[in-house]
Amino acid sequence: MLIQQSSKLKEDIMNLKKEKDVVILAHNYQIPDVQDVADFTGDSLGLSRQAAKVDQKTILFCGVHFMAETAAIISPEKRVLIPDLDAGCSLSDSITVDELRNWKKQHPGAIAVGYVNTTAEIKSELDYCCTSSNAVNVVKAIPKDKEILFLPDMFLGSYVAKMTGRKNMHIWAGECHVHAGITPQDVTKKLDSMHDAEFVIHPECSCTTPMIYDVANGTYNDRKVSILSTEGMLNHVNRSKAKNFVVATETGILYKMRQQNPDKNFIPASEKAECQYMKMITLEKVFDALVHEKNIVTVPKEIADKARLAINRMLAIS
Ligand code: 13P
Ligand code: SF4
Repeated sequence: MLIQQSSKLKEDIMNLKKEKDVVILAHNYQIPDVQDVADFTGDSLGLSRQAAKVDQKTILFCGVHFMAETAAIISPEKRVLIPDLDAGCSLSDSITVDELRNWKKQHPGAIAVGYVNTTAEIKSELDYCCTSSNAVNVVKAIPKDKEILFLPDMFLGSYVAKMTGRKNMHIWAGECHVHAGITPQDVTKKLDSMHDAEFVIHPECSCTTPMIYDVANGTYNDRKVSILSTEGMLNHVNRSKAKNFVVATETGILYKMRQQNPDKNFIPASEKAECQYMKMITLEKVFDALVHEKNIVTVPKEIADKARLAINRMLAIS
């Protein structure tokens, strides 16, 4: 889109959201133009918490569908809109509710812990929800003798098992295609090109598996390394005294990192790490959803009530 066109559209969106008293929340992976019109940007859980706090009764959620659903579960009295209802997530698609029910039947008495990247229906079958920033603490809070079913991300699951030393954790073999696509070879190449760089990784990355022992100790090939959620990454690079960073996650996060730290350098571990679902949200669709107040995300009450229990148990721990 031409710069002139996009600034006119941004201005129209800013006026409309004020006029209609709508708050715009945008995930850290959204395109820069969409982040620019947002009232708040953040990680999936942070945005849902924000949704509960804001005064506006209508939330336009610029992210993928499970995130908008989580906001609707946490704030049942608010109306949640999404610019594109088809903005899905390969990780959340990697387990169906029937598969989860069967898995639970095979392990009676096990505690089901599920990542926030799941549908509302899956969340309603969980004992605990967790995010990339609190998964280790959630698992630590479960009595050691209890079997755990961890889903759906196998890389986050292996990381949590390693960090907690848990042997009775069964891990679902799901993955996010974007993070699984960042290979140890990509990382090595980028680290070699920036000798003094710190390394920050999202735990969904497949590159964490061969590195896990080093990562658990906080270093990789003598580099300082931190495994963090998207918001955790932003807080970390803002505070760090380092000047250079290799960032292993979806490349959308680099916009805010660079904006908030103009004197630091950030390079992606892989330029190919782009989530096409996140990028389905465009300024035109944001405008359209605002004008027509359309694409309402709803969660049936009985599902939302059960899912909220798993989310609240997580919130009580972290
Ligand atoms: P965060 O919860 O860290 O924002 O991650 C969400 C996500 O979709 C990662 O791919
Ligand atoms: Fe889902 Fe992966 Fe996209 Fe995150 S980056 S929304 S986990 S497909």
